[in-house]
Amino acid sequence: MFLCSYISLSICLSISISLSPPYLSLCTVDHLKANILELFLAGSETTSSTLWWAVFFLASNPQAQQTMQEEMDRVVGRDNTPALAHIYRLPYTMATISEVQRIGNLLPFAIPHKATEDVSLGGYRIPKGKV
Ligand code: HEM
Repeated sequence: MFLCSYISLSICLSISISLSPPYLSLCTVDHLKANILELFLAGSETTSSTLWWAVFFLASNPQAQQTMQEEMDRVVGRDNTPALAHIYRLPYTMATISEVQRIGNLLPFAIPHKATEDVSLGGYRIPKGKV
């Protein structure tokens, strides 16, 4: 809760500071609430399902689990918390996480999108209404 509120508030603050009217009116309490809701909806089920898949795959592959544990113990250590700075020294762990994302395949088709107006992107013309 705190994290989501903090992120949304930060977004709104940065928008308020960096943009001048009329865009300033885009930063209301309703927008803040919508942002918090969006972070919850987008972030809860995706994260918990991914973790469920990770536990399932690691329980099914004890060898991979052990290799990952050894790498974590060697690089991070049992008395420390993993940090972003460790990422580049955890190739096996990162590959395992990528593999969980790949075979867990949470959002294969994601959420349908369509162009709300004619746009040009990377040299391609996307007409209004195209999915
Ligand atoms: C393992 C966890 C997660 C997975 C697999 C995941 C997956 C995705 C995917 C595939 C999209 C693109 C959807 C689309 O537009 O077609 C997306 C967008 C988004 N996700 Fe996640 N997500 C995860 C965690 C989170 C978390 C923790 C948050 C927020 C706290 C979050 C917030 C969002 C938001 C706001 C968008 C929309 C971005 C935009 O279009 O501007 N996600 N996510």
